[in-house]
Amino acid sequence: MARILDGKALASQVRQNLKERVAEGIQVGLPQPGLATVLVGDDPASHVYVKFKRRACDEVGFQNFHIELPADTTQGELLSKIDELNTNPEVHGILVQLPLPKGLDEAAVLQAVSPLKDADGFHPMNQGALMQGKQSLRPCTPLGIMSLIEASGVDLNGKKAVVVGRSNIVGKPIALMLLEKHATVSICHSRTADLAAEVRAADVLIAAVGRAHLVQGQWIKEGAVVIDVGINRLEDGSLTGDVDFEKASERASWITPVPGGVGPMTIAMLLSNTLDAAWGNK
Ligand code: GUN
Repeated sequence: MARILDGKALASQVRQNLKERVAEGIQVGLPQPGLATVLVGDDPASHVYVKFKRRACDEVGFQNFHIELPADTTQGELLSKIDELNTNPEVHGILVQLPLPKGLDEAAVLQAVSPLKDADGFHPMNQGALMQGKQSLRPCTPLGIMSLIEASGVDLNGKKAVVVGRSNIVGKPIALMLLEKHATVSICHSRTADLAAEVRAADVLIAAVGRAHLVQGQWIKEGAVVIDVGINRLEDGSLTGDVDFEKASERASWITPVPGGVGPMTIAMLLSNTLDAAWGNK
């Protein structure tokens, strides 16, 4: 039976540590870290995620600047808000919640955020730095996944890691971070010829596609580490991951639950990035 990689508990420890560092830093005259959350439109899931992010800011003693804009906001209006945040010295991190409403150019918006304040690690300059193995602000979900794997005590050196999903937010950056830790990495996607065969070979599996139970339990290699990034809502309203948790747990050595696995770690890493952006310890 797999052991649970408890993201909720680990994230709580990370937040506690950040809270102590913030209190100590402010005592010695460092500025209070500030995170701006930008939410455009009415996507219900995005509203929930941003609420959690704002609450986490409060908990660790950050300032939160919240900008909420209607779905019919123009590209120019959004860019001018981002420009204000870029030049506001109290704002150290800027997060534009995705997805943006139709009609807005996501790539242009992400590029408009100052790379020095890019708490999400989505700016092309930060993504390029990651590709070259340089220090930079890195995407939060992959950072959270790496912390979870580290907490499991599993050494990635020489292991076969399989990433299912090729997004700029999770799939591509986590593949680079696993590679940096000397795993042999495959990236699978909707055109992969035999997904089951790829997954069967994985010592470490990262599932990040957003399709409920796409990964079957019997595909999991005995003893594998299974990280499930998917958050899918079922018809009965419950949340489930991309992996069939029950069956996969019988074969994996470690597995993340949904909810309570990767999600809380993403938010903890967002705070950590904001602190780094504020105090320059990158
Ligand atoms: N939408 C889904 N995941 C994320 C994330 O990590 N950051 C932002 N800003 N939007 C998202």
